[in-house]
Amino acid sequence: MPESSGRPIAPASGKLGVLCVGLGAVASTFIAGVELARRGKAKPFGSLTQLATIRLGKRTEQRAPLIKDFVPLASLEDLVFGAWDPIPDNGYQAALKCGVLDPHEHVHVIRDFLEGIAPMPAVFDQHYVKRLQGTNVKRGESKRELAEALRKDIRDFRAKTGCDRMVVVWCASTEIFIAPGPEHESLAAFEKAMDANHPGIAPSMLYAWASLMEGVPFANGAPNLTVDVQALVELAGRRKVAIGGKDFKTGQTMVKTVLSPMFKARMLGVSGWYSTNILGNRDGEVLDDPESFKTKEESKLGVLEYILQPKVYPELYGNLYHKVRINYYPPRGDNKEGWDNIDIFGWCGYPMQIKVDFLCRDSILAAPLVLDLALFFDLAQRAGFSGVQEWLSFYFKSPQVAPGLYPEHDLFIQHTKLKNTLRYLMGEEQITHLGVEYYEYGKE
Ligand SMILES: NC(=O)c1ccc[n+]([C@@H]2O[C@H](COP(=O)([O-])OP(=O)(O)OC[C@H]3O[C@@H](n4cnc5c(N)ncnc54)[C@H](O)[C@@H]3O)[C@@H](O)[C@H]2O)c1
Repeated sequence: MPESSGRPIAPASGKLGVLCVGLGAVASTFIAGVELARRGKAKPFGSLTQLATIRLGKRTEQRAPLIKDFVPLASLEDLVFGAWDPIPDNGYQAALKCGVLDPHEHVHVIRDFLEGIAPMPAVFDQHYVKRLQGTNVKRGESKRELAEALRKDIRDFRAKTGCDRMVVVWCASTEIFIAPGPEHESLAAFEKAMDANHPGIAPSMLYAWASLMEGVPFANGAPNLTVDVQALVELAGRRKVAIGGKDFKTGQTMVKTVLSPMFKARMLGVSGWYSTNILGNRDGEVLDDPESFKTKEESKLGVLEYILQPKVYPELYGNLYHKVRINYYPPRGDNKEGWDNIDIFGWCGYPMQIKVDFLCRDSILAAPLVLDLALFFDLAQRAGFSGVQEWLSFYFKSPQVAPGLYPEHDLFIQHTKLKNTLRYLMGEEQITHLGVEYYEYGKE
């Protein structure tokens, strides 16, 4: 039985506009997949919001509705899509060029729909993404002016499509590494830096600022700093808007955040973890630039440190050698191969090895995450959850958290946290897995 009435949540009535920054492999695969699902031509595998159930109450109650029947989410039918991209290809051209979906089975059949998604001119500066050139770009004297133009795009999109609510998801290229500086420390400093065209204010931050100013939640699927700075956290708080990131947790890091908790749970040591990837899509090409790779590397490296806690377990993890490489290899296209060699040790220090060879499809793994994030950020906003949405860490390699907190990286802790947050929202009991009540000793 519900333990309280939950939180008031505004209904998911009307249309939800999903604006993707970037209309490349991930965004076009996501948008096409939703349309294919709507037309009954493909299944949304990989999406919790569409397929997963949630257990409610005791195990004896046998209550496990679909998440989408339990919480009030926007339905796929109510989604409307838009995008920005410096490359002028529409959704159809982008999907064909990215080569993720089969042209005959999954692209031509929705050509009319995909052609209707023409990218709005982007705020783009090659300084931040070295390996990319684009012509569909906004011009402006200052970063503030460009950000104001993005605000206008959001308002115009809302007016044109009649959307009731919107979310923005960064599905664009990884920008160069930027360390947080004084210009990010407060909203006042940030806005001053926008006016002064400060190099610390990357295009992604302008999109985030514009979204928040328009009261639109912003989720960051790349490892860029973007909304993970005090200034934008402050703005999200003031405008009461949901934010979160960073970097979709899809392939190798998803595997890493499942295997490493296993080693720690069993108190097995790890002496080395070598991860390498080959991929040949545009993301791979962008990440071939050392400055963009550094941003990705930071995001990928952090997880083991937090999960394995070498300071708490120096004998087990104190000397761990961790290396991550990404190699651009055009023949593979979007079909990434991620290898992991893990050197572990057990009882009396005897060494063992685990090899993982994950032949994955990058955008096929990322697309359902974009869908879930769009639907859950919209839910968060309607439930009055503003600021950082840590409960959605499940979707991110480098989850944004409140100051002073360390991020939870373990995939199943994140999964439990997500589901418990849904239970909390709906006034259902938290599931602790204690379970003494099923046994005699729990009945005194
Ligand atoms: N696919 C995955 O598994 C995965 C996992 C984690 C993170 N990511 C990240 O998601 C992002 C998208 O990946 P992808 O494979 O679709 O890459 P992609 O190169 O196919 O698409 C990115 C698009 O963003 C556009 N873009 C670049 N700068 C922009 C700007 N300032 N404004 C608007 N558009 C801009 C590019 O022109 C390009 O079309 C990348 O940053 C990638 O690192 C992907």
